[in-house]
Amino acid sequence: MALQTHLLWSFVVVFVVSFSTTSCYGSSFQEVNSLLSYIDHVDKESGYNSRAYPSYMDTTEGFKSMELIRPRTQLFSSRKINKIAGGIATSSAPAKTISVDDFGAKGNGADDTRAFLKAWKVACSSSGAIVLVVPQKSYLVRPIEFSGPCKSRLTMQIYGTIEASEDRSIYKDLDHWLMFDNVQNLLVVGPGTINGNGNIWWKNSCKRKPQPPCCKQAPTAVTFNGCNNLVVKNLKIQDAQQMHVMFQNCFNVQASCLTVTAPEDSPNTDGIHVANTQNITISSSVIGTGDDCISIVSGSQRVQAKNITCGPGHGISIGSLGKNGSKDYVSGVLVNGAKLSGTANGLRIKTWQGGSGSATNIVFQNVQMNNVTNPIMIDQNYCDHKTKDCNQQKSAVQVKNVLYQNIRGTSASGDAITVYCSQSVPCQGIVLQNIQLQNGRAECNNVQPAYKGVVSPRC
Ligand SMILES: *[C@@H]1O[C@H](CO)[C@@H](O)[C@H](O)[C@H]1NC(C)=O
Ligand SMILES: *[C@@H]1O[C@H](CO)[C@@H](O)[C@H](O)[C@H]1NC(C)=O
Ligand SMILES: *[C@@H]1O[C@H](CO)[C@@H](O)[C@H](O)[C@H]1NC(C)=O
Ligand SMILES: *[C@@H]1O[C@H](CO)[C@@H](O)[C@H](O)[C@H]1NC(C)=O
Repeated sequence: MALQTHLLWSFVVVFVVSFSTTSCYGSSFQEVNSLLSYIDHVDKESGYNSRAYPSYMDTTEGFKSMELIRPRTQLFSSRKINKIAGGIATSSAPAKTISVDDFGAKGNGADDTRAFLKAWKVACSSSGAIVLVVPQKSYLVRPIEFSGPCKSRLTMQIYGTIEASEDRSIYKDLDHWLMFDNVQNLLVVGPGTINGNGNIWWKNSCKRKPQPPCCKQAPTAVTFNGCNNLVVKNLKIQDAQQMHVMFQNCFNVQASCLTVTAPEDSPNTDGIHVANTQNITISSSVIGTGDDCISIVSGSQRVQAKNITCGPGHGISIGSLGKNGSKDYVSGVLVNGAKLSGTANGLRIKTWQGGSGSATNIVFQNVQMNNVTNPIMIDQNYCDHKTKDCNQQKSAVQVKNVLYQNIRGTSASGDAITVYCSQSVPCQGIVLQNIQLQNGRAECNNVQPAYKGVVSPRC
C-alpha cells in the first residue's frame, strides 16, 4: 500500500507541473488549418496501431503512459498553435472548402439529410485536406451516418445548427442520430449547435412514463465510433434524445470547449460518455444535463478531464462496471480541475457485485463542490434494488489506487465521503489528501483510506 501510494504520488506530481490551459476562442479558418496539420503531424509521429489492445493488467503502466499524452493535450495552447503554424503547417497546402449548401441543403426547415450525405461523400472521398462547412442556418437532419474510412483529412465546420426532427418514427435505429463511424483524422468544430430536440423522447421515456408503451431506448445525439485522431471543439450540444456525445472504440481524442445542456429532469441525458476509448482529453467544457456530466465505462484508458464545469446532473462517474457478471476494465483516469454545482453525485466510482475486472489508477484533483448531494463516492456494491437481488457475492470489480486530492466545498445531504467497498474484493490504495467538505459525514465500509494533509470529514 505504501508503495502504491508512492507510485501514485510521483505520477501526480508530473501532472500538476504539466497542467496546461485551453482557451475557447472561436475556430477560425486559419485555426482549422493549424489543427489539420497538427493532426497530420501526430499521425505521422505516433504510428499507432489502433487495433493493438492495451495491457490492462499492469496497473502502474496505464498511469505512466498517461503522461505520454501530455504533449497532445497542449494542442490548443497558443504556443503550440504558433509553433504549428510557423513550422509544420507551412508544409501542408491550405484546405479546400465545400458547403452543404453546394449539395442542395436549404436550411429552411425542409429535410436536408440527402444534401448532407452527398456533401459528406464528396468530402470524404476527395484527397488532401478538406473543410465541409455547415453555414449559419438551421438544418433539419434525420438519423445519418457519416462513415469512413475517408481519403481526405476532413474537417466539418459547423457555424449553424443541426436539428433533429421530432418525428420519432423516422428512427429505424434507436441508438443513433448523428453518427461518425470509422473516420480517422477528423475534426468537428464549431461555433455552431447540435440540437437533439429531445423533449418528445423524454416525455415517452419509461423513467417518466411507467405505463407501457414507453421507450427504454432513445438515440444518442452524436456518436463517434472507431474514430482515431479526433478533435471535437467549440460546439454547443443541447437537448439530446438520450446521451449527448458518445466516444466509443476511439483512440486519441481531444474534446474541448463544448457546452452541453439539457434540463435537469431529462432522463438519461449524459453529457459526454466514454466507452472503450483510449487517450482522450476532455477539457474546458460546461456540462449541465439530467444525468452524468461525464461517464466513463469499460475499456477506457488514459482519460483526462480538465477544467470542467458540471451541473445540474449526476456528476463525473466511472461505471457502472461489472453489471450482470461482466468483466470490465477502466484505468488511468485523471480529473484535474472541475467545479460541480448542485449535482446528485460528485466524483463517483460504481461497480456491481458479481462482476470482475478493475478500476485502477484514478486521480480526482482540484475540484470545487457546491451543494453536491454525494461529493465523494465509491460504491462497490452498486445495485438497482428494483431489478436485482443485491446479496453478497463472491466476485467484484477490483477498485485500486484512487486518489482524491484538493477537494473542497459543501454537501447538500449530510454525506460527504462514502466509500463502500466489497467484502470479498475490498478496495485498495484509496488516498484522501487535502479534503475539506462541509455539512457532511464520512462513511467507509471494508476499507481504511490513507489520509494526507487536512482531511475533513474522516471515516
Ligand atoms: C496512447 O498514446 C501514447 C502516446 O502517444 C502512446 O505511447 C500509447 O501507445 C497510446 N496507447 C495505446 C493503447 O496505443
Ligand atoms: C476553462 O473553461 C472555460 C469554459 O469553457 C474557458 O472559458 C476558460 O478559458 C478555461 N480556462 C482555462 C484556464 O483553460
Ligand atoms: C446477463 O448475462 C447472461 C449470461 O451471460 C445473459 O444470458 C443475459 O442475457 C444477460 N442479461 C442482460 C440483461 O444483459
Ligand atoms: C442545495 O441542493 C438542494 C437539493 O439538492 C436544494 O434543495 C437546495 O435549494 C440547494 N441549496 C442551495 C443553496 O443551492
